[in-house]
This record gives sequence, C-alpha cells and structure tokens, in this order.
Amino acid sequence: MKTNLQQKLESYGQKYWNFEKIKRNGIHKIASYPAMMVAPMQHKLIEDIINMEGNISNIFDPFHGSGTTLVEGERFGLDLIGIDINPLANLITKVKLQGINKDTIYNCNEELFLNIKKYKEEGVEVHSFEKIEKWFRKDVIYDLSVIRKSIIEEKDKRNREYYWTCMCDLIRKYSNTRSSTFKLHIKEDGKIINMNNNVINDFINSVEANINSFESEKSNNTLLIQGDSLEEMIKMKPESIDFICTSPPYGDNGTTVTYGQFSILSLFWIDQIDLNISNDQLIKNFSSIDTLSLGGRINPNISKSELIPSVTLVNILKGISIDKQKKIKNFFNDYFNAICNMIRVLKSGHLMVLTLGNRRVDDKEIKLDEITKEFCINNGLELEAEFVRNISRKRMPTRVSHVNNLGPVQSMTAETVLILRKEGSKDE
Ligand SMILES: C[S@@+](CC[C@H](N)C(=O)[O-])C[C@H]1O[C@@H](n2cnc3c(N)ncnc32)[C@H](O)[C@@H]1O
Repeated sequence: MKTNLQQKLESYGQKYWNFEKIKRNGIHKIASYPAMMVAPMQHKLIEDIINMEGNISNIFDPFHGSGTTLVEGERFGLDLIGIDINPLANLITKVKLQGINKDTIYNCNEELFLNIKKYKEEGVEVHSFEKIEKWFRKDVIYDLSVIRKSIIEEKDKRNREYYWTCMCDLIRKYSNTRSSTFKLHIKEDGKIINMNNNVINDFINSVEANINSFESEKSNNTLLIQGDSLEEMIKMKPESIDFICTSPPYGDNGTTVTYGQFSILSLFWIDQIDLNISNDQLIKNFSSIDTLSLGGRINPNISKSELIPSVTLVNILKGISIDKQKKIKNFFNDYFNAICNMIRVLKSGHLMVLTLGNRRVDDKEIKLDEITKEFCINNGLELEAEFVRNISRKRMPTRVSHVNNLGPVQSMTAETVLILRKEGSKDE
C-alpha cells in the first residue's frame, strides 16, 4: 500500500517534479557549481515533508555542494548542519547562509572599486601559482591580481568572503579552460587569443548585482564543516538528526563529476586566510580534491575484498571490465560507509532523502538507485516514497567519460529521489 507521503508526491502529476521551466534565481545565482539542485524543487519537497512529519527542527546535508538544500532548509527555520570536502563549495554555501554585512557593504564596495582603479593604474605585484600562465592570459592575470589585492585589503571578513564568491565564476570564465566540461581542458589557441578581457567590469557588475540576492538575516543555528563526511560524521552523536536531505556523489570522480577540477583555479586565486581548509593536501595540485573525495581514494585492500553488501551491485559488476570494477568497488566501499553513518546519526522513525543518478560504465547502467535502496533496506530503513525526475536542465556534462571503441558516453538525463524512514518509533 502507498504511504501518505507517496500519495501526496504523486498527487501533483507525473511531470511536476521535473520543474522544467525554472531558472536559477536569487541567492542560488551568486555562484555556479556542478550538478546544482533545483532550488524550488528542493523547497517543495522539504515543505511537504515538514508539514507531513511535523517534528523536524534540524536538517543535515553530508555532501552540501553549493548549499541548495541548506539554503532552502533555512527558509523553514531549521537548524542547519552541512559537510563538504570541497573548500569552494563550503565558501559558496557559507556566503549564501551568512549573507553580507548590510551596514558596511555599500561603503566597502566604494572603497573596493577605488582600490581596483588605483591598482589597475599604479600597478600591482601579480599573483602566481604553478602553471598559472597555462591557465590564464597575461592581461587576465594582471586584472585578477588587481581584484585579488583589493579584496585582501577589505577588513570585514563577511564582505571579503562575498567578494571572493563574486570572483570565482569570473576566474573560470576568463581562464583558458573549456566551458563545455568540468575537467580542466585547454581551449583552442584562437579562442584564447580572441577572448575579450572584461574582467574588472564584470567583477564590479557582479558585486553590485548580487547584493540584491540576499534576503533579510535569519537566526538559524548553523554548523558548516569543510571536511570529509566519512571522518566528520563519526564525530556526530547517534540519533541526533531529524531529517537528512542530500545528493551524494554518483560514482568515481574521474568519470563522473570532477567537482575538484571545476573549483581548483578559483581556489588558487582566493586568499587562503579566507578558505577553511582542513587538510593542506586538498589544494596541493589540480586533482587532489577529486582524489581525496568519495570515490577518489584508492583503498589498496579493495580488490581483495569479496564482501559486497549488495546483490544488485554484484550482478552489475559481472558485466564490467576488471580494471573498472576496481574503481566501482572502491567508490561503493566509501559510499556504503557514508550511508551507514547517515543511518547512525538519524533519529529513529525519521526520514532521509537521497537524490541519485544512474551513470553508465562500459555501457552498463550502474543502478545507484536500486543498489542504494537494497543496501538501506538491509540496514534498518524502510522505503517511504520514491519518484524519478527528468534532469535535462540540471548542470551536468552531457558527456563525461570515454569508453574504448564506443566513444563518449552520454551522461544521465534522469535522477531518482528515494525517501527512506529509519525503523523504530519516533521519540516525541
Ligand atoms: C552531488 S554534489 C552535491 C550537489 C549539491 N546537492 C548542490 O545542489 O550543489 C556532491 C558533493 O559531495 C562532495 N563530496 C565528495 N566526497 C566527499 C566527502 N568524502 N566528504 C564530503 N563531501 C564530499 C563534493 O565536493 C560535492 O560538492
């Protein structure tokens, strides 16, 4: 029999959850990030669940990305707990949640723009990091250095963090990387030479325009952690979370979404004083974030481990080449570990929402939704509701991996939302 929540979610009609004609708006527009969720869709889902459950005062996203879920949870007055390993995701989310200092921002902007003008005319020591001239044209390096120095001189940390957030999309826009992929691939020479440099004007416009995205200040309790969820969740109290709502990584980083490569050029420009970095290794090189993220670390024991706690996964692996099996097993080892910790911190009788995508490896579908469902049901959760939504508008690369003889493989066009309830009665 269908649960009340399943009936409610289905009552809107089959296409409702696609949120097809929605554009990124308001605070969600201030910076881009791969695989961003659709905010109004998250909002509606959280709203329906809060109304039907009635006993939710905190929300936890262990892979918060650009913070869509936390920002929407904030609108319902919930206490917020979020973790992400990527310092850029953490900074963007922090700025969205803490806002700007409205008492000082207009004066600070004036001073910032005057400094930019001064340093542009008088000259500035250019910023430098490994291979900077491969990734940026000389005139772009100069203008970004002018902006960087002007931001560093701002005394108000909250406003400074806001300025870095305004800068990060421009860093990618004016870099020599292709915009068609989240990976760092160099553009054709002609495109680099012909690119118009409008860095400074774009930055000023962005700072002025984004101010209007911040709403009135809210007083939610917020705990935002830059770190590895697998390590951070262990420190959390069992049965302390009312509601988990997240979209975890979908597979090994090399062939899924390279959140780290997307972010690293911006991270190399932002002053480290304003970045919360738990582990220096994270920004050691262009791919270190992806290597240290879920599905990136290679566990030397993984190929020897025969214990795969999902029959569905075991069957899928049979159709996949041995070297790729290793990466998949490696991802799932971390993934199952993360899910176990999520179950541990969730209160009995409460809900966990997982938004998942099924990618393909060796032209075989890795049914993350089925595998997750099976694993969760075997580990103390019940399926409360589920639906599949079209994600043609979500910012995902259409082509992410290359398979021998088959060429580029299409990425996902749909995602599954699983809503699971932890067994046991609610402690009212
Ligand atoms: C699917 S994204 C989340 C997208 C997000 N829902 C949004 O709307 O932007 C997954 C996130 O998991 C993060 N991640 C990957 N491995 C992690 C780990 N071990 N600990 C914490 N975060 C991790 C990535 O940095 C990425 O931001």
